[in-house]
Amino acid sequence: MTKTLLRALGGETLATPPIWMMRQAGRYLPEYRATREKAGDFLSLCYTPDLAAEVTLQPIRRYGFDAAILFADILLVPQALGAELWFVTGEGPRLSTVTEQRDFDALRPAGEVHETLSPVYETLRILARELPDTVTLIGFAGAPWTVATYMIAGRGTPDQGPAHALKDGNCVLFEALLERITAATIEYLSAQIEAGAEVVKLFDSWAGSLNDEDFQKYALAPAREITAALKKRHPGIPVIGFPRGADTRYAGFAQATGVDCVALDNAVDADWAAGHVQTDGCVQGNLAPEHLVTGGQALVDETRRIVAAFSGGPHIFNLGHGITPDADPDNVARMIDAVRDR
Ligand code: CP3
Repeated sequence: MTKTLLRALGGETLATPPIWMMRQAGRYLPEYRATREKAGDFLSLCYTPDLAAEVTLQPIRRYGFDAAILFADILLVPQALGAELWFVTGEGPRLSTVTEQRDFDALRPAGEVHETLSPVYETLRILARELPDTVTLIGFAGAPWTVATYMIAGRGTPDQGPAHALKDGNCVLFEALLERITAATIEYLSAQIEAGAEVVKLFDSWAGSLNDEDFQKYALAPAREITAALKKRHPGIPVIGFPRGADTRYAGFAQATGVDCVALDNAVDADWAAGHVQTDGCVQGNLAPEHLVTGGQALVDETRRIVAAFSGGPHIFNLGHGITPDADPDNVARMIDAVRDR
């Protein structure tokens, strides 16, 4: 097998870890900004397969990453379930909210998400044809808790307050919403795999705001359910879990959920994770994205430190969160050189 990313996910320790980057197709790249302008707005870019495939391929051409992540967004699932979704430039996403039973009753069944999401599957089919055969194609979805935080609040929130309030105030409705998102996510990721995704990643960006008991119920359990359902339908499909902010709860996450790889955010110490998380299998991460803005020797030193910390086991080099629009594209090349030519 020539695909290094799949080898690492299978548990192999490689002399040079495969590399890709969260948000690798994004506003820090002039070619992305040009294609986005052509598409008009962000959602049109997501739903136009030729253009979504084009921006997915741009960072592969420029840098030679070992994996390409589908260009889409975690908020397409709420939209496919019937929520209204729009993006306010410079501010972020806005959605119609789910806070009462009648909002929930207006949502579509999980099995009906494909009508909205079919352009995403077409993007994957294009990519499966066009990617170099050493590059792994990654599909993704938001994890149910993270997606629910946006559906309940109608926007991003610093503390996920509205979602916590619904969980505590109307737990029956909250759990019904989580179950609907879980079922839709299984349908969506399964269709992504059928369209050519070779790995899928679950982004639980707000997992860190759950207390231990809620983390078990609303982060671990849905990840386990989604992973088990996908592996039943698609035996051998690797799953990457990203419970951002899980802190010490990263330890045991892979065993508890069945994911093949745990993506670490940059708050996690690499040496600690090598001893407490990588012991269960492959880890991904975890350079702080700020280094791609600031660059210099610190970028090189920190990249090398992370590679060295994880060199005793399976590792996929990545950032601890998405690259930001103010990052310098030249720093990305420096980071890759520091990983590959030590
Ligand atoms: O990583 C990739 O290159 C693949 C594409 C991808 C996007 N979003 C494109 C995007 C992926 C995997 C995501 C995941 C995503 N989306 C998450 C989970 C990961 C994380 O960042 O924690 C979340 C929470 C979202 C929701 C979302 N999408 C927000 C809050 C925003 C606005 C903030 C921002 O960065 O502008 C988006 C917009 C978005 N999604 C952009 C991109 C490239 C920027 C939109 C633009 O071009 O204007």
